[in-house]
Amino acid sequence: MADNTDVIVNPKEDIVDPWTVQSSSDKGVDYEKLIEKFGSMRISDDLIKRMERVTGKPVHHFIRRGIFFSHRELEMILEKYENKQPFYLYTGRGPSSEAMHLGHLIPFICTQWLQETFEVPLVIQMTDDEKYLWKDDIKDPDQTYKLAYENAKDIIACGFDMNKTFIFSDIDYISGCPEFYKNICRIEKHVTFNQVKAIFGFNESSNIGQVSFPAIQAAPSFSSSFPLIFGGHTRVPCLIPCAIDQDPYFRMTRDVAPKLKFLKPALLHSVFFPALQGAKGKMSSSDPTSSIFLTDTQKEIEDKINKYAYSGGGATLEEHRKKGGDLDTDVSYQYLRFFLEDDAKLERLGREYKAGTLATGDLKKELIAVLQKIVGDHQAKREMVTKETVKQYMTPRRLNYTFIL
Ligand code: TRP
Repeated sequence: MADNTDVIVNPKEDIVDPWTVQSSSDKGVDYEKLIEKFGSMRISDDLIKRMERVTGKPVHHFIRRGIFFSHRELEMILEKYENKQPFYLYTGRGPSSEAMHLGHLIPFICTQWLQETFEVPLVIQMTDDEKYLWKDDIKDPDQTYKLAYENAKDIIACGFDMNKTFIFSDIDYISGCPEFYKNICRIEKHVTFNQVKAIFGFNESSNIGQVSFPAIQAAPSFSSSFPLIFGGHTRVPCLIPCAIDQDPYFRMTRDVAPKLKFLKPALLHSVFFPALQGAKGKMSSSDPTSSIFLTDTQKEIEDKINKYAYSGGGATLEEHRKKGGDLDTDVSYQYLRFFLEDDAKLERLGREYKAGTLATGDLKKELIAVLQKIVGDHQAKREMVTKETVKQYMTPRRLNYTFIL
């Protein structure tokens, strides 16, 4: 995901691509405009209802609250599921640093819920090649290769079903699976430099690994890249949950798919998790005060929220009581929307904060308790993930899933 390597000061328009997320407003990116620009669809209330009808359970609060807000062809996936036809999930992570933060968990939490709800196979791509190609401070692919295995522990801690999940490092899998590499070559042959230039903004100074990398992120969208899982079936539909900055990769993928007689992948897009300092940017792994890390202690969580979480409350308690707080810019409230599951409590906190009867300090106290529990639980689960467990998830193998096309 983008981690603000290029920071443009006060851009006139929002900038959203896989490397930059910069908003022109305090409220963060204008997602309505983004949907229009990217040509995706908003997840409508009707679609949510349909999802609940088809699965027989309420949707995850990320979907209910519009944290996953946009999609491409989600109806097609639901239709397959209704007709008892198979599909699979695909998501990924660029292992650029050991320090994963709360924002990195969002797509994985949603993906875990989808896997549990639909009981389908999942592939997770660790783009150790991508991060080597893009990060100036990373001098050797061995570094990102190691990070892929480290980060896999945090991903596994999200609770994926081992019998239905394959996690792979690109470096391993490209050298180990000819079917994957053949699909990469097929994609490379059918996408021109002009096309990637237009989609990703590459130019004559981009290194040649960057120029061809989109084919590597595209390939797992096609079931024939995983012969052990799909037994050579080339047209098992794929659903990709991701933050919306990854959409350019999959626009390209959807463009090239018919040329290869493959299916276009469906997508589910999330908003960005705001930095502690406010929604203008996204969190950065290189700035420890911008985010809550999965390794932070209980005390660090408390201190960071108290010190850095941008407040949409009044400047003084008196003013706050009079005018109330601004929920759209208040980071503590925004974080609670992500992590406080209890709808009734969230509604109450929001109402009282907006009215000025709940003070910023008290809202922060609620958030601190919620985050301390989530991060504490995550750390305990990660602790249980051994090298052996990682190896099991990362070994190419048949998964526990039988399907009839
Ligand atoms: N490029 C993504 C990142 O930097 C990693 C990634 C690879 C990914 N494949 C994906 C993310 C599929 C979402 C879906 O984080």
